[in-house]
Amino acid sequence: MNSKRCCLVWLLPLLLLNIVAIARGQASNATIRYDAVSRIFRIDAADVTYVLGVNEKKELQALYWGKRLAADDPFMPAHSRPGSSAFDIPVNATAQEFVSWGQGLYVEPDLKVSFPDGNRDLVLEYVSHTIENDTLTIVLKDISREVYVEVEYKADGATGILRRSARVENKTAGPITIEEISAATWNLPRGTDYQLRYVSGRWDTEWNLERQPVRPGKTVLESRRGSTGSQNNPWFAIESGSSQDEDFGNVWFGALGWSGSWQITVEQDTEQQVRVTGGPNSFDFAYHLAKGERLQTPYFYGGFSHEGIGGASRLLHRFELSSILPHAPNPVLRPVLYNSWESTEFNVNEASQEALAEKAASLGVERFVIDDGWFGERANEHAGLGDWYVNPVKFPHGLKPLIDKVHSLGMDFGIWVEPEMVNANSDLYRKHPDWVLNFTGRPRTEGRNQLVLNLARPDVRAYVAGFLDRLLNENDIAFLKIDYNRNWSEPGWPAVSPEDQKNVYIDAIRNLYSILEELRAKHPKVEIETCSGGGSRVDLGILRYAEQAWPSDNTDAFDRLRIQNGFTYGYAPGIMVTWVTDSPTGENNRTLSLDYRFLSGMQGAMGLGADLNKWKPEDFATAKKMIAQYKQIRPIVQRGLLYRLVSPLDGSEYSVTESVSLDHSQAVVFAFLHSSQMTYPYPRIYLRGLDEHATYRLKALDGQMASGTPDAASGVYWMQNGVDVDLHGDFQAAAFLLETR
Ligand code: GLA
Repeated sequence: MNSKRCCLVWLLPLLLLNIVAIARGQASNATIRYDAVSRIFRIDAADVTYVLGVNEKKELQALYWGKRLAADDPFMPAHSRPGSSAFDIPVNATAQEFVSWGQGLYVEPDLKVSFPDGNRDLVLEYVSHTIENDTLTIVLKDISREVYVEVEYKADGATGILRRSARVENKTAGPITIEEISAATWNLPRGTDYQLRYVSGRWDTEWNLERQPVRPGKTVLESRRGSTGSQNNPWFAIESGSSQDEDFGNVWFGALGWSGSWQITVEQDTEQQVRVTGGPNSFDFAYHLAKGERLQTPYFYGGFSHEGIGGASRLLHRFELSSILPHAPNPVLRPVLYNSWESTEFNVNEASQEALAEKAASLGVERFVIDDGWFGERANEHAGLGDWYVNPVKFPHGLKPLIDKVHSLGMDFGIWVEPEMVNANSDLYRKHPDWVLNFTGRPRTEGRNQLVLNLARPDVRAYVAGFLDRLLNENDIAFLKIDYNRNWSEPGWPAVSPEDQKNVYIDAIRNLYSILEELRAKHPKVEIETCSGGGSRVDLGILRYAEQAWPSDNTDAFDRLRIQNGFTYGYAPGIMVTWVTDSPTGENNRTLSLDYRFLSGMQGAMGLGADLNKWKPEDFATAKKMIAQYKQIRPIVQRGLLYRLVSPLDGSEYSVTESVSLDHSQAVVFAFLHSSQMTYPYPRIYLRGLDEHATYRLKALDGQMASGTPDAASGVYWMQNGVDVDLHGDFQAAAFLLETR
């Protein structure tokens, strides 16, 4: 080692005692260290190391993000890179952690502001930092104006996932306008051999997995819809190389915790640096920050796995269960629910619901949920939304008799609400036409005959929080399905001054979160499902308040295999509501056996939505058996490690998933056949994630194993020799369990 490099390495621990701050949270596997000599911050968490430094221009510069390194590995101090020509001003050439628009920045900024005097130049410099409880907070400030930004890194010791965010504080003498703000920029190692994965979709067709090379220029994943949306979901993963292997290779991934308009920009700049910047969508955006005010961004979570995209998903799943969901790190297992929507639609009443509840209870269902139609003059989707009183014709004695009946059958009770919306044909809208998003004197575009309430307004917030609280106070309700059936249009807020109107993009979502937070605090036993006409509001922001998510209104059990596959790249199977409904569904007019539908529906948090009035005795017998089996395996499915063994994408005839319990003592496998062709057998299934040396007994849950399949063998046998299922025909499925006990 030459003498120049020698002085750049981490110094001996003893020498560092005075200049290195080390934070170690209780029982955490995360450390954050600062070397005052080299001005380098090093975060180690689980199997990940993340390093950044303060360079000679006091910029925060990314230095390393990847597999955990040896504790004494050396790092060069941060040093800004020169621009490659007069056309590339130096600020663009340095991989910065949080860069403001100023000096001549052409890459995606993290922050862009304008001042009342017309100045729009902002240049942030390092001021100070603190390290506390696995959290590094770095204060930046503009070179001359009193605009401060605190950038925060919180490390999760179990998964290595970092939670990043920024907080802007206006200490100037007047207001400033934030024109663009992101939570963070993630810089990948400089390179050109990257593949981006993300999901796309639309109503009834959510969660399509996409894959494309990262090329020079930008790919913007986004929602301009006021809500998360399903056109893209705020999740990404970037793999190095093009092997597409599920369980090998380096993957950087992230997800944004924001349920409003959002954007994630994946940019390969002129220096071949790949930057991923994410936060609220900058289109039509402004946030008017008065003197003395602060704006906190949403959280942008990022992680790294060297075990492929499968490893990346498993880390995210674990993180969601241990750090995001209500009651984390011990979120409650999802009960089997019945929802009457596909059976009765708007035509709910005491008698019809009680009859369904009796049938559902006989199957082993644990929660009975009535959907849309129980309130106001809600005969169909044209009226009643916003009027949250129990419809006196449908429920002449209120909800109590039905709730009591549901309880007497041993189930708990859940109910559907869509709090942020209003039908034009409603008492609420007639009384408060000014409560919806609108521009004065302009048309108000309806979606599903409804308008969007402006939740940023204090009176609207109070109304929504008030009716939800009252509903839960007056009724013994264990579960709310919170729906959101359209996206924004004409997002005006005429009641405030023009310069404050665009604050609606942030304030409405903040108010949504604060309502949910309040509600959960006042009613700690109530659980929540996030639904938005299917899977249009699933993100790590809303999931802090919702135990489960409805992935799609498309309940065709074959389509669901693709939908469920896409969902699990970013979100845990224990969050994903999987449903068993009637066949054929309206979607494809495809006929599927009840066994197939149940096996498709067992791969997440299982619910039933079939019209039980039409079921035959043999359907009840099948369902009862399947639900009992599901209850046995649900901890493995909901809490375990998911291996996507065979993908259902690209016209595949087959798909296979495996869930392994965290202690590796149990694994459950679901195998699906689209249609046999040319007499080929079903491909052999090679398991993953088992303990090589343990002996696992095999138990077929449904469908046939190939003849000669052993009853028991070692983990290495099941993984290396594999196992054959005997599946022939069209739309066939099988499931089996391996257990060491
Ligand atoms: C949305 C939901 C459905 C159902 C209806 C009720 O479409 O996704 O599950 O609740 O609304 O109107």
